[in-house]
Amino acid sequence: MQQRHPQDYSALMQIADRPSTTFVRGRGSYLFDEQGNAWLDFVQGWAVNTLGHSHPAISAALCAQSQALINPGPGFYNAPALQLAQRLTALSGLDQVFFANSGAEANEGAIKLARKWGATRRNGAWKIITFHNGFHGRTLATMSATGKPAFEPLFNPKVPGFVKVPYGDLAAVEAVLDAQTAAILLEPIQGEAGVIPASSKFLQGLRALADRAGVLLMLDEVQTGMGRTGSLFCFQHHGIEPDVMTLGKGLGGGVPIAALLAKNAACCFEPGDQGGTFNGNPLVCAAALAVLDELTGATFLPQLQERAGQLRDGLTQLSQRLSLGEVRGEGLLLALELGQLDAGALVAEAFAAGLLLNAPRPHVLRFMPALNLSAAEIDAMLQTLGRLLAQAQQR
Ligand SMILES: Cc1ncc(COP(=O)(O)O)c(C=O)c1O
Repeated sequence: MQQRHPQDYSALMQIADRPSTTFVRGRGSYLFDEQGNAWLDFVQGWAVNTLGHSHPAISAALCAQSQALINPGPGFYNAPALQLAQRLTALSGLDQVFFANSGAEANEGAIKLARKWGATRRNGAWKIITFHNGFHGRTLATMSATGKPAFEPLFNPKVPGFVKVPYGDLAAVEAVLDAQTAAILLEPIQGEAGVIPASSKFLQGLRALADRAGVLLMLDEVQTGMGRTGSLFCFQHHGIEPDVMTLGKGLGGGVPIAALLAKNAACCFEPGDQGGTFNGNPLVCAAALAVLDELTGATFLPQLQERAGQLRDGLTQLSQRLSLGEVRGEGLLLALELGQLDAGALVAEAFAAGLLLNAPRPHVLRFMPALNLSAAEIDAMLQTLGRLLAQAQQR
């Protein structure tokens, strides 16, 4: 057999443009390569590492659980899944949980739940209203639900039944809602679209409309949930409750687990409708319980809110000093509009300078650091970013 060079990446399918670096270690806000070079990480696995890289509480939970029981299979109950479901329902006000392995799979479950609910409780309704520029995942149904223009020509024909309207436009939702509508599905902040928050007025309007029309309001909190926006769930900022909510990313603190939660009235799956070999296995549920223990500690969210204020203030000052654009978002999911500057080029320059940043749009930077990062780490990021932005403006 031919030996491959360790840096020969050709055995991996090319699904992303990645820098030619292999990370071997992570700790808190830092990632390290084989040579020991360090990067300050404000991407954190795409907003998944709630507690930073390799948090000791997650490692300990995985270690202990792996020695006790890894996977009895989805046909049996296990203690961590039960405990996690009980805690998530108590914290969110929703009633029941189905565990999944990714955000896309949780949303796929939400779509199936809405279709079954429409079929059995709303005279065969099957359509779901979703939003322009929304993002819900990369399975065929969740790509179909997604409102990203770049997805439109891909993998056609898509799954039918998604009616897309402009985000924030209540009248547009009202105009398309009909007897065949089963649900409305949206992110409370559109993350991949460049961190576009929904207003409380819009979300409250959707809640009232869904109640009036008798359809489900489903929130995709895969990116915004689990403390990311400064409250445990983003809907808690807006004085509403969804009928269905999905979680992913931060739930396992880097370990792949996601969840579909629903109010009792929306829970209509019967045995055989939904499931999966790995779903709700005790190993990943133990990691999520460790994350929840930290997140629900008395000082965690207050400290996060302080760091969020520091980051927002620092970005605002930077924007004013360099005449850039808007700073927006909530908690530790923030974006900075760069005006004419090329965000992709800036991300590459930041990488070369030992800083990991993300550019969801051509002129927008997104910040999604560990929720427990330090004030000094924010200062260090702002300093590097300020220098790189000033250099970019001089070119
Ligand atoms: C709002 C939202 N929903 C769903 C997903 C898909 O999650 P996953 O990549 O875990 O499938 C993402 C991922 O970025 C997301 O931001």
